[in-house]
Parts: sequence; C-alpha cells; structure tokens
Amino acid sequence: MLSPKDIQALNHSLQGAEPKDILATMLQECPNIGISFSGAEDVVLIEIASKLPAAIPVITLDTGRLHPQTYEFIERVRDHYGIKIEILCPDAEKLRQLVSSKGLFSFYQDGHEECCGVRKVEPLRLRLASLDAWITGQRRDQSPTRAEVPVVELDNSFSSNSHPVIKVNPLANWSSEQVWNYIRMFDVPFNSLHESGFVSIGCEPCTRPVGPNQHEREGRWWWEEATIKECGLHRGNLDQD
Ligand code: ADX
Ligand code: SF4
Repeated sequence: MLSPKDIQALNHSLQGAEPKDILATMLQECPNIGISFSGAEDVVLIEIASKLPAAIPVITLDTGRLHPQTYEFIERVRDHYGIKIEILCPDAEKLRQLVSSKGLFSFYQDGHEECCGVRKVEPLRLRLASLDAWITGQRRDQSPTRAEVPVVELDNSFSSNSHPVIKVNPLANWSSEQVWNYIRMFDVPFNSLHESGFVSIGCEPCTRPVGPNQHEREGRWWWEEATIKECGLHRGNLDQD
C-alpha cells in the first residue's frame, strides 16, 4: 500500500510526464487500479491504456440519464478495443426514494448534489471499496475548480482510514487541444455529440452545447455557480487551497 509520502513523491516525479508514462508507472506501483470512463473525450485514456502490456479495467457510471449517443458510444468503444466495460448502476431503492419524493428533475430546483450522489457517487464509492486507485480524465484547463488538479493524489472523498484510495489524473497537464489532436492522430472513436457543439458531456438533462467563446463547463449544470460545479466525484477539488 502506498503511503501519503509515496503518493506525494509520485505526484512530484510524474509532474512533467506524458499520460502514457503516468499510466504505466501507476499500473506498476498500484496494480489494482481502474479507469473511470465517462463516455466523452476521456476515451483517450482507453486508447493510451490499450498500448500498455497489462489490461486496466474500465468502469462507467450509468446514471440512467445519459444521452442515447453516449450509450451508443460506450458500446462502440467496447467493440473497437475488444474490452469489457463495467457498467455501474445506482442503488434501486435509493433511486426509487429520490424520484418518488422529488420527481425526475429536482436538480433544477435544489441543485445537482443529491441526484449525483445517488446516481454517480454512491455506485462509485461501492466500486472503489475494492480498488486501490482510480484513473480519471480530469484536466486543469477544464474549469476553475480543476486548475490545481494533481497528477497523483490521495482521494479523501473516497478513502477511509483502513482503505486509502488514490486518484490518478494522467491528463491533468493536457489541454483540450492536445486531447483532440491525439484523438484525430490515432483515429480514436469519439462521442457523436462532440460534432453538435457539445464539449463537456455529462447527463442529458444537465448538459447543453456551448457557443463560440463559451467555456466548456458552461454547458454543464448551467443554472449553478461556476465555482461549485463539481459533483461529488471530484468534490476534493473544492477543498484545495
Ligand atoms: S463531472 O464530475 O463533472 O461529471 P467530468 O464530466 O468533467 O466530471 O469528467 C471528469 C472525469 O470524471 C471523467 O474523465 C471520468 O474519469 C470521471 N467521470 C465523470 N462522469 C463519469 C461517468 N458517468 N462514469 C465514469 N466516470 C465518470
Ligand atoms: Fe442527476 Fe444531473 Fe447529476 Fe446526472 S448530472 S446524476 S441527472 S444531477
């Protein structure tokens, strides 16, 4: 098990590393690791991982509210790479309680936290209980809340005293332009929503296309403040100084 000091040292030594070297190092340091794939441009993580000698499990959170194009894309990625994609679903009883008491669109009234909690955070928490580390597609250029995202960090949101969970952000230093250059250069399949003005893609009711000169996160939870636009998956970003 890596200590907080080891994690800090890895983060330091991988600061300027390419995503493929970050993935290779972390796979070696922490073999019980999984890629968390949202069905958007973070598909580059799967392409990069496909070139490593050992397979890394891929998980995706099916909130039940994704666009049809995203479901199609997840299947396309499964076929293209010949990999398994583990689909995680919300707890049926918790979901029943939420939608029967508050309806299907409560997030427009009282914020996305509760719905994201049931549909994303809790299913991920359950899965991370049996992984030592998870890999995300977070980038520093995605939002003000992500400007300080480390390459390797202890994930305080999902760690307990007995089970620390490491979070790896191999694309932290890449810009959106680098991601898209990579996608084009290696003919990586991508979500067709990206061809209709969608940049950052989440659930259908909480995502909309952005116009020229709008920041990509403006299309996510657009009725909320930019500084709090994190669902609990990346809550730790809001705690950083
Ligand atoms: S979110 O928290 O605002 O939804 P965002 O869409 O920017 O996150 O994605 C950042 C990273 O979080 C993705 O690259 C992925 O690693 C993880 N992630 C987000 N949504 C999902 C999902 N539905 N399933 C799996 N991982 C996800
Ligand atoms: Fe619910 Fe929207 Fe969060 Fe999806 S993004 S889980 S629909 S609040």
